[in-house]
Amino acid sequence: MDAPVTLFDAVGGQVFFDRLVARFYERIETDGHLRPMYPEELEPSRRHLALFLGQYWGGPSAYQDERGHPRLRMRHAPFAIDELARDHWLRHMRGAVEAVDPEPGVKAALLEYFEYAAESMRNVQVEPG
Ligand code: HEM
Repeated sequence: MDAPVTLFDAVGGQVFFDRLVARFYERIETDGHLRPMYPEELEPSRRHLALFLGQYWGGPSAYQDERGHPRLRMRHAPFAIDELARDHWLRHMRGAVEAVDPEPGVKAALLEYFEYAAESMRNVQVEPG
């Protein structure tokens, strides 16, 4: 029997995530709500997200080797991520997925994951009433 193929292998490896994240950050650059949260120099942020996603989807542990345990909620604690921030982030990531246009099974898996992940990064609750 063949070994199961990871999504990382199915999309052709790290270069896919590099392209995806490049498209995502093109959108962040012009987002007036999200851009101020990011450092002036976006290249390190781009690299970290691309390596994280490659690792998450079955690639080598390059992110962990460079940055340590992801602890993503903790790393996002300094930023006020409300519903609006979550929605902007998700819109840009959906746009990036559409732009790189992977095969339908991959696209569905990525979109489902990003929707869940973006909501789980939200750290500002809506005030009741
Ligand atoms: C929901 C809205 C989100 C906002 C507003 C947001 C914002 C940010 C910001 C401002 C940074 C810091 C960039 C830097 O210092 O270089 C960051 C880092 C990062 N974000 Fe997000 N993020 C969001 C969701 C997510 C999600 C859903 C994921 C994963 C799927 C993610 C993965 C990462 C990673 C891997 C880093 C780099 C951490 C590091 O090693 O320093 N983020 N994010």
